[in-house]
Formats: sequence, structure tokens, C-alpha cells
Amino acid sequence: MRMSQTGDLWWKTAVVYCADVQTFYDSDSDGIGDLRGMTEQVEYLADLGITCLWLMPIYPTPSKDDGYDITDFYGVDRRLGTHGDFVELVRTARAHGIRVILDFVMNHTSDQHPWFKSARRSTDAPFRDWFVWSPTKPKTNPKDVVFPDKEDSIWELEPKTGEYYLHHFYKHQPDLNVTHPGVQEEIARTLGFWLELGVSGFRVDAVPFLFTPDRVPADHHHIRFDPKRYLADVRKYVTRRVGDALLLGEVNLPYKDQKTYFGGADGDGLNMQFDFAAMQALYLALAREDARPIEGALRRRPALDVTSQWANFVRNHDELTLDQLTDEERQEVFDAFGPEPGMQLFGRGLRRRLPSMLGGDGRRLRLVYSIMFSLPGTPVLFYGEEIGMAENLDVPGRLSVRTPMQWGDDPSGGFSDAPPRKLTRPMPDGLYSPERVNVANQRHDQDSLWWFIRNLIRLRRQYPQLGWSTVEVPRTKPRSVLAHLAKEEDGWTMLALHNLAPESALVDVSVGEVEPGSTLYDLLNDRSEHPVGKDGSVQIEVEGYGYRWLLLHRPGDRPPQ
Ligand code: NOJ
Repeated sequence: MRMSQTGDLWWKTAVVYCADVQTFYDSDSDGIGDLRGMTEQVEYLADLGITCLWLMPIYPTPSKDDGYDITDFYGVDRRLGTHGDFVELVRTARAHGIRVILDFVMNHTSDQHPWFKSARRSTDAPFRDWFVWSPTKPKTNPKDVVFPDKEDSIWELEPKTGEYYLHHFYKHQPDLNVTHPGVQEEIARTLGFWLELGVSGFRVDAVPFLFTPDRVPADHHHIRFDPKRYLADVRKYVTRRVGDALLLGEVNLPYKDQKTYFGGADGDGLNMQFDFAAMQALYLALAREDARPIEGALRRRPALDVTSQWANFVRNHDELTLDQLTDEERQEVFDAFGPEPGMQLFGRGLRRRLPSMLGGDGRRLRLVYSIMFSLPGTPVLFYGEEIGMAENLDVPGRLSVRTPMQWGDDPSGGFSDAPPRKLTRPMPDGLYSPERVNVANQRHDQDSLWWFIRNLIRLRRQYPQLGWSTVEVPRTKPRSVLAHLAKEEDGWTMLALHNLAPESALVDVSVGEVEPGSTLYDLLNDRSEHPVGKDGSVQIEVEGYGYRWLLLHRPGDRPPQ
């Protein structure tokens, strides 16, 4: 039995959907989305076809970083509901074939967390060592400051003790000393707690910032701690509790550094990580209408052991970070997709969603999602992408892309019965207002983006081989066309062609050695069949901003369904 024919390693064939409870659906008309609302919309998610729901933080929080500042890792924020509501959501999702994973922040707490409130009181206070202190103010490398609009140092003075505490993010988010056995014990207990409540794993926040001895002051250098070893221990622990638990890591680093977080040869670290490098290269390729940047990234993308997986995404809840591009390349993307200063953030990213970046061009929008879903790896959607929601630039900072889900065309977008002024955040107006962009209209229109995305999801589910495959990038002409092969162990092969330019192109590409009589079968558009030359060469027309998913059909293969 081949493993890929079973439901083994579920994350490899998952379709992940990220949602923030407070902006998804409001069940009690107070203007704030809640867990009961989320549960009511499980049917919707099942209809869309997703198989894994990633919830942004739901814990009690002063919400100075939209929930990534946590005061109780075991709790549910009162605005969102109760533990009972949470369990009901997980149960309902499971009944519809959807797993739930939770955002988990092990790097820091809120400064309002009782541990930090205690720790800051005196140098020998309980929980003092659960955070990272220095008697003098260490130098900050500006590169280490994650939010340079608000912070200029990663060390903050605590006036009561005259010592400085470490905070890679905002100063109200003190870094935890994850080397401390007490902290590790609490992290384990918390993960174990949520696993008992039925979650299938965690999205691990801010991984590269976890305590690293050579990045803290000299008086900490004696601490022997390897964050990757620690993550491997966490993995061992969670999979002991729930055998197929997922750790999906946020590790925005160049590939060679990122690879090490997957663990050793048998993948004993994080089992899935977002592919930030390919995502950033894709935007450069789109800006240039030249496939080479994304081809380069895919060629450099490290091969993984069979249990590990890349997560493909084009947008998430943060700014579109372009920090792995050179200054000039980043400027090209800014010029193309976010020229106004108000659209940019931290000098490294764009606080926009995709449709507005592409000037509302539906063809290009479909092109981008076709690329994302055709890539080997697991696709991850951010709520609202399936209907082409845009940002509201009037909402400050990164929150511009976290406006309420647009379900219907009334002023509160069907998100809530409360009036618009009471909503979690104001929705965009104009071209992308709920009146024009909403779920209800698109579900009734089979030509809509919603149906297009739903079809891509259906294809992913029809061809789980895509999730099990690895990527190869053959030489292609012309440059505006991205050609990639998804290949699975047993010879299953799909060629994907994406034309990043508006002019149609005759593509010359080779799928490699094939059996005589093999053809390529168009899965996405017209189900046409195309002959493959003896040497594997193919010539195919792809229209401007067009896309094709072509399944290799060898003589003797069963006909494609
Ligand atoms: C990464 C999260 O994606 C971001 O939203 C958050 O502000 C930081 N980590 C800090 O938790």
C-alpha cells in the first residue's frame, strides 16, 4: 500500500483556511465575531471545501497586538465565547471533515500576564526568571526590531528594578525565557490542554525569535539551549499526546536557515512551514511579468523528508512582507502594487490584500491563485481571499487587512446585525465594499472568484498526489511563463503553466522522458488533450494571464476522471 493512497500525514493533503473569530461572524449582534458565529459558518467552510481551520489567537488579551498579546494561555477571551463554545466548534468542524488548529504564541506574553506582573516587581520575585533580564541596556541591532514604527530597541527598562527586559515585538510583549524548565512545563501543559479539547495542532508564532543564546547579553551565554532541539522536544511531546498533531511554524528566514527547523533527516522538528521565500519571489515575478524570480525560488526550495511539508500562501493577516528581497527588488514591488506611502509598512511590506494590489484585475487574481494551488505543498487561504476582499486603509497598521468577513450586501456586510459603527472594524467602502464584494452574491454566480477557488480546492482534493509531490522547474520559453512540474514518487506528473504577461504565449517546455504515446490532459480549463513529443517536449498556447494544469497521461493509465 502506498502511503499517499491513505489519509496518512493529513497536513500534506490539507487545504488550510485562516480565520480570526472576532471578524468572521457575529452570532449575538454585539458587532464582534464569536465562536458560536464561527460554528454557524462551518457549513460554509465545508462547502468551500477546506479541510483545516487555523484560528488566530482566541485567548484572553488586552488586544494591543490583536490577540498575539496573551494573558492566559488556557483561556478563551470573553468577547469570543466560552470553552464550551470552543469545544462545540471543534466538534462541529470535525463532523464536517474539518480539523481545527490554534495559533500558539510561545515566544512572549502580554505585559498584563500574571507571570510578568509578578516578575517585574523585584529581582527575586516569583516568575522573574521566566522572562529575560539584563542589568544594563544591551545594544539593539535595528534588524532585530520587528515593529520599527513603534519601537527602536528590543530592551525596555523596568523602573522598579532598574533592569531591562527583552521584547522582540512591542514592549508590551515581553519575551518568555523558554529555556526555563517552568516555562517549558507550562507550554507543554497548555499544548496538552488544547489537544485534549480536540485541536489537531498549532500554528507556532514567531519561531525564529525563540531564545537564542548568542542573541542575548553575555550573562546568558552560559545557557545551553538550542531552539530547534527544543522544538523537536515539543514535537515529540505533542505527537505522543496526539499521534498526528501538526506544528505549522512561522519561520520567515532564507531557505537554508529555515530548513533546519524541520528537524533532522527524519523531520522531527516542525512538520510544516510557510514558504516565505517563494511567496516574496512570486510578487517580484508578477511585478516584472517575468517568471525567473519565482522559478529561482522554487529551484532553491529545499527538498524535505516525506513527513514534512511546505505551506503555500499569497497573503496572510500581517503585512505582505518583502524582507527577503533586495532594496531595489522591494521597490519594484512597491511601485507595482503599493506605491503610496500609506500602503507600505515598516519599510518592508504592504498592508494590502491581493485584489486591490492587482487593480481589481480578475484574470490576474485567478492566475495567482492558480499558481498557489498548483504548487506542491499545502495551500493556506486567509479568510475573504475566496471572494476577493480588499483592505481598508483607514484601519491603522496591519489591521487594514483584518476587516470583517463580507457575507452579504447590507451595510454591516451580513457579518453582524449590529450597525456598522459597532463592528470590530470598519469594512472597506467603494469598489470593495460589502455591497459589491460578498459571499452571498458570489455563491449564486458560478463565474465568480468564489466558484473558481472552490474548484481549485476540489482539484486539490481530487488529486492528493499534488500534496505529496515535489516541484521541478524545467527550462521554458518565453520568460513570462512559469512552468513547473509536480511529480510524485510513482511517476504521477502534472505540468502547470502560468502566463504572467497580458500577451498570449506559445510555450516551449519539456516534461522530461515519457513513454511514447503519452499526452497531457487539461484539468482546469477545457479538458483538451495535448500530444507529448518523444523527448518529452511540448508546445502549448497559454493566453495572456492564462493558466493550465496539465496531467500527464501515460499509455495504460486509467482515464482522468
Ligand atoms: C507574528 C504574527 O503573525 C503577528 O501578527 C504578531 O504581531 C507577531 N507574530 C507577534 O506575536
